[in-house]
Amino acid sequence: MLCNSLAAGVIAFGLPTFASASLIFASSYNLDAADGFVSTIKYTDGKLEVINNQQGICGANPSWLEFVGDHIYCLDEIWNKKPNSDSVGALYALKATRDGTKLTESKRLEALGGPVSTVRFGQRLKGLAVAAYGGGGFQTFDISNPDAPQVVNSSSFTITPKPGAIAQQGVSHVHHVILDPTGDFIAAPDLGGDLIRIFKVDKKTLEYVESTTIPTPDFSGPRHGAFVKLESGTYFYVVTELSNEIIGWKVNYKADSLEFDQIFIAPTHGPDTKVNNTIVKAAELIISPDNKFLLVSSRLEESAGQIDIPNPETNAGQIKSDPLINWAIQADGTIKLQQIFPAGGINPRHFSLNKDGSLVLTALVTDGRVALIERNVQTGNLTKIVGAVKIIGGQPNFAKFKEDTKCA
Ligand SMILES: *[C@@H]1O[C@H](CO)[C@@H](O)[C@H](O)[C@H]1NC(C)=O
Ligand SMILES: *[C@@H]1O[C@H](CO)[C@@H](O)[C@H](O)[C@H]1NC(C)=O
Ligand SMILES: *[C@@H]1O[C@H](CO)[C@@H](O)[C@H](O)[C@H]1NC(C)=O
Repeated sequence: MLCNSLAAGVIAFGLPTFASASLIFASSYNLDAADGFVSTIKYTDGKLEVINNQQGICGANPSWLEFVGDHIYCLDEIWNKKPNSDSVGALYALKATRDGTKLTESKRLEALGGPVSTVRFGQRLKGLAVAAYGGGGFQTFDISNPDAPQVVNSSSFTITPKPGAIAQQGVSHVHHVILDPTGDFIAAPDLGGDLIRIFKVDKKTLEYVESTTIPTPDFSGPRHGAFVKLESGTYFYVVTELSNEIIGWKVNYKADSLEFDQIFIAPTHGPDTKVNNTIVKAAELIISPDNKFLLVSSRLEESAGQIDIPNPETNAGQIKSDPLINWAIQADGTIKLQQIFPAGGINPRHFSLNKDGSLVLTALVTDGRVALIERNVQTGNLTKIVGAVKIIGGQPNFAKFKEDTKCA
């Protein structure tokens, strides 16, 4: 491994034993009705390389990864198998070798149907909360022993569909779980119900109480969100998949609940813009580490929204790209459009920033590609697509640097 030889070289010069290679992990659905993949991508000196593309290690439809020390928790939506995602999903505790070339399963647990997102919470972050899209639910797990996670509590929600609702809003679809800055509350956007569900969590027992629900406009379909703590207060932002909007609220803390006061609602692409909501599907929302920028990804644009770029896998030939949309967060919690930048291909279901905010990874489902973009941490602008790799046979839906990895 270059990772090892680099580290050895560094040791020879008497410097700290951190390798300059970093590891990225990605989850992918399969192009066909077969098991999906969890992949390791090595990033060294501006180059990306797939060093492991492991099929079936997280079942049929891996959708999300959570890094816990040497472990990787992976959710399986199981939507291409029977019984399908509405009734049962799975949580895998996987162990990665240090060089990332192999994953092994420590434990597989059944989960609520169609799990799609996790967040760590509680004392010493020993809790793992899970959003279940297919089953319209919320669950907490105890991961004190990372090899043997155990379920703590589970809830499934019922909603009354609004007249005129599309099929996707016929039932509850919890799409994301987000821990608030105090660690006492988890917010969970419910795309089916046009709601943000707020849970008060017990940091010791990892149990919870559903405290309040915050409504979003009819047929908006809230998908992913984030809390931001500024000097002027705490704010919550959500991107809506069905109406392609960003909504911002000021958060007011009560003893056992949160209240949200809406401060703005804006189209994802900027003031006075409009996309065809039948086709275009906003997906991810990420806040920069300095809390100064809010970025969203937009999927499956019509031709007017697509950007022509050189193919980042080969640097030869032109391809079409969906956008990432970059907003500057103002002191009062409102947002101002700053930049629209190519995601590196079509269907950026997920993207992530590294810890210092200098790199952005995008998971491009339709193109089977993971792309890496440079970001100027001072200006907040995305500046250059550095490179990209193909996940052979896969439809990547999540990609993130595992930054505690040391190869030495
Ligand atoms: C969580 O589990 C505890 C212990 O079994 C139980 O007392 C509590 O009612 C559960 N809460 C929910 C929201 O299911
Ligand atoms: C939006 O897209 C749908 C599906 O292609 C199409 O039927 C509809 O006419 C489009 N609407 C507008 C306003 O272009
Ligand atoms: C950031 O990008 C926007 C959009 O391209 C551009 O107008 C602006 O000048 C850039 N800011 C800096 C500081 O480069």
